[in-house]
Amino acid sequence: MNIQAKKSKAEEYPCELLLLLSFESPEWLEGPIQAVDHQWKGFVSTLIKDGDFKGELFESRLFYTQGAIPAKRVLLTGLGKKGEFSLEKWRGAASKAGQFLRNLGIKQFVFPIKKINGFSEEELAESFVTGLLLGVYQFNEFKTLERDKIKEIEGLVLLGEGDEEIKWINDGMRTGKIISDGVYMARDLVNGPSNEVTPTVLAKKAQQIAKEYQMKLEIYDVNEVEAMGMGAFVAVAKGSQEPGKFIIIEYNQGKGLDTIALVGKGITFDSGGISIKPSENMERMKDDMSGAAAVLATLQVASQLRIPLHLVGIIPATENLPSGKAYKPGDILKTLSGQTVEVISTDAEGRLILSDALTYSLRYKPKAIIDLATLTGACVVALGDYVVGLFGNEELLLKKIEEASVMAGERSWRMPLWDEYFEYLKSDVADFKNVGTRAAGAIIGAIFLSKFVEKIPWAHLDIAGPASIEKERPYIPRGGTGVGVRLLVQLLRDWK
Ligand code: BES
Ligand code: ZN
Ligand code: ZN
Repeated sequence: MNIQAKKSKAEEYPCELLLLLSFESPEWLEGPIQAVDHQWKGFVSTLIKDGDFKGELFESRLFYTQGAIPAKRVLLTGLGKKGEFSLEKWRGAASKAGQFLRNLGIKQFVFPIKKINGFSEEELAESFVTGLLLGVYQFNEFKTLERDKIKEIEGLVLLGEGDEEIKWINDGMRTGKIISDGVYMARDLVNGPSNEVTPTVLAKKAQQIAKEYQMKLEIYDVNEVEAMGMGAFVAVAKGSQEPGKFIIIEYNQGKGLDTIALVGKGITFDSGGISIKPSENMERMKDDMSGAAAVLATLQVASQLRIPLHLVGIIPATENLPSGKAYKPGDILKTLSGQTVEVISTDAEGRLILSDALTYSLRYKPKAIIDLATLTGACVVALGDYVVGLFGNEELLLKKIEEASVMAGERSWRMPLWDEYFEYLKSDVADFKNVGTRAAGAIIGAIFLSKFVEKIPWAHLDIAGPASIEKERPYIPRGGTGVGVRLLVQLLRDWK
């Protein structure tokens, strides 16, 4: 979608369609909608007064202006009550309006941006563009039939009244576009099937990003990391014919900046291995690399936004399959940390590959380590499918993540990591087991990971629920969501 900012007024700008957002039953009209109403002989205020358009959240109605203003059509979309306004609702309204127009076959539209409820033009432009782009996302790569029926909005013009406003709008628009591009990339990788999105393809994607944005890249194959001592990652990877890849992508905006390690689970397909999963819904396990996708996208966005940090993205990527070479329940693995693990279930593979990746991250002496993983079904049971389970060993880092999570509209909920939970992982034959009880499954998974980060501030985001969704949300269509990208980008933008 081509997006640009232009200096003009809504009531003066000729276009196919003008979008106006309105609060619910407002006492008076404010901003661009007021000027349009005036020009349009009170059409909008009459509609609202007579109750034909209430402005309820996401309510959308299309009108022909019949020459009253230069815009041929107007779409009115509701923002809900003024007192309950948030950027999250603004993003939702942008998306709902965009979906409405797209489904109607509208190709171009215009939207005036002016401060409301204390939010700046820059914030509003960023959130509008983000909500709109994320809301109209579609994954059509593999559809060959009736491609001519696929509808897309091609252009958006954001209007601002003065030169200064235009500058703010341009800045916000650019940020929104960069972030949405990152989320699109993550969603495409998650939606892509495992026969297409293999560990090799993830490595290629990392290579492409590293080249385009001048980042450092290291890709190790299974033999190389075996020599380094990554017994846990190697055990999982060796069950598959598809070669595993250990990917490190590094972005540095300058000298002496804080180092943050971002670790993403990159299981491109999780069959469960020898502890094989039931076949029902197994197709969903192509999304088991959502953490990896989010890490790659975050690095891309961070470098485009020139966020002043040193970021190290670490992605252990492999399939988890049963075969004659697969690791087995009862096997004892030696991790890169030196600690040994008794395998109880080969389906608890995420924590195994992550354990080596977390240990590896320590060599960068990071100020913080954050891992993202579709780690446990238990987290979905606990929190449902739109909340990230948040675990960690340091209050300050967790607080920052919680703030970023609210700002980004990617909900998270804090979970405990009390020592008592470690009891469940005690093993008779090794340092610990890879599985405890079914009860508290998400916490036990997190406790396992905590044994590999030493004393470095660390947070674990269990994204098993929100990584891909069955029921759409205002600006998140069904399927892969790209969850974590906007949360991490917000965290990194606000770092310090
Ligand atoms: N990838 C799964 C977790 C998962 C399950 C993500 C459902 C999304 C939806 C993970 O590797 C797994 O299989 N975990 C096991 C752990 C158990 C064996 C301790 C689980 O959650 O059942
Ligand atoms: Zn598994
Ligand atoms: Zn898994």
